Amino acid sequence: MTTDSKPISDQMLIDGEWCGALSGDRIEVENPARRTIIATVPRARTEDVDAAVRAADKAFEQWRKVAPRDRGKLLHEIAVVLESQIEEMAQAIASETGNAIRTQARPEATAAADIFRYFSGLASELKGEQIPVGDNMLSYSRREPIGVVGAIIPWNAPVLLAALKIAPALCAGNTMVLKTAEDAPLGVLLLARACNEVLPRGTLNVLCGYGHECGAALAEHPQVRKLSFTGSTNVGKSIMRAAADRIAPVSLELGGKSPSIVFPDANEDWVVDGIVSAMRFTRQSQSCTAGSRLLLHDDIFEPFLEKLAAKTAALKMGDPLDEATDMGALINKKQYDKVCNYIDEGLSLPGARLITGGKPDSEGPFSKGYYTRPTIFADASNDWRLAREEIFGPVLVAIRWRDEDEVIKMANDSHYGLAAFVWSRDIGQALRTAHQVEAGWVQVNQGIGQLPGQSYGGVKQSGLGREYSLESMLDSFTHKKSVTVKLDIPNPTSQNKPNT
Ligand code: NAI
Ligand code: MG
Repeated sequence: MTTDSKPISDQMLIDGEWCGALSGDRIEVENPARRTIIATVPRARTEDVDAAVRAADKAFEQWRKVAPRDRGKLLHEIAVVLESQIEEMAQAIASETGNAIRTQARPEATAAADIFRYFSGLASELKGEQIPVGDNMLSYSRREPIGVVGAIIPWNAPVLLAALKIAPALCAGNTMVLKTAEDAPLGVLLLARACNEVLPRGTLNVLCGYGHECGAALAEHPQVRKLSFTGSTNVGKSIMRAAADRIAPVSLELGGKSPSIVFPDANEDWVVDGIVSAMRFTRQSQSCTAGSRLLLHDDIFEPFLEKLAAKTAALKMGDPLDEATDMGALINKKQYDKVCNYIDEGLSLPGARLITGGKPDSEGPFSKGYYTRPTIFADASNDWRLAREEIFGPVLVAIRWRDEDEVIKMANDSHYGLAAFVWSRDIGQALRTAHQVEAGWVQVNQGIGQLPGQSYGGVKQSGLGREYSLESMLDSFTHKKSVTVKLDIPNPTSQNKPNT
């Protein structure tokens, strides 16, 4: 690693104040496309977590009392501030994550503003119900906030994922301590700045730090009443264990190994484009919803792959800040080594046939950053490690199938169940398949990103709970309290009548 001339020195947000860690320690933030240090941020540990949680707990007393429509108005103001900062935000995201500015970082900054706008309009929907139990009793329910939410996010879409936790949690009247990912804190700190311009102090606190220190301390903090985590399945399990100690509710958005099922009538260019999009090649496939298992019908296997190889090879890999770039660099050395290991494994497997891509450049401009090209292995078997484990890099495996029952069995033979994609002109066949696939989200004939309003999340080891929707805000960030009232209490005058 080298150091850029002057790395910016960012602070974190506790109780409305920008501050460093109590220890004074800092974490370096690297631009993964250039391998330069672009910033340093505080390295928060237990004592900083404690200060942030105490601030959020104190702020909760007031924030919960703010009328929902007024909370909604403030979220709307944040959306307006975010909209005025899209370019600054996009530059920060592209620089720290390696995600290309045109295809990824700018759309992410825009989507974060949209998320705040969407939830700002939902504040009045925090409604309860009245239950008909007869004329002698009134029974109703209230949606109440839970308290301090501890949120932990990863680096792959940091600003979007932060927005998806902050906006619904605060809309529902909770306060929050959010831990940024150590690899990508800068965009989220800009988001925190926008929030802090608008919100009362302590309502949102944003920490920087490592998972095993800051993240674990947040997950274990007794005053954190709800945990919302996005990241790897293994860390998700540790969050759930920490929550079990105090029976705190958890929401988990975890990994995936999502199938993309192509029927024989779908050997067409638009499907090939759809597979490229579903595989999220332009974010180096660092996406939990990546359609990374291509289940391709035997009849069209070779011609389809030929087209797919040509399309992926045409993607322009380059500096994330260059507008012409389609696809940037992987996040860090650890992920780069992990992805390279999978590519090496594919190259050494006797049955695997490399269609495009392969080992990354060891010299030339792309060797200066964590660049890996789209790589496709054909003739894969569904039980290979390459077909079972989440690679989180641009490595796609193509598996042959002949029979509809067989392909559904293969699709479901995974401990994950996040997303799935089905491609066919026969809508009956496509929907039959969609209904049988074990996944939280199935797309038919498209491979786009999540939309506000859609309840999104996984089954099996891909997670617990949903995000992105009104229903998810109610389920994840409120408690339902029932109040039952006796309506026919005896009249005091008749009861207290003295005996005569
Ligand atoms: P990770 O799960 O370790 O990190 C995600 C977040 O959790 C970060 O903020 C990290 O600091 C925090 N964290 C780590 N250990 C923790 C702990 N013990 N307690 C509390 N918080 C903790 O993911 P990582 O290491 O960045 O990536 C590893 C793999 O995870 C990837 O290759 C990919 O397979 C998967 N992943 C999945 C994501 C998704 O969106 N589902 C996002 C990022 C990674
Ligand atoms: Mg980085």
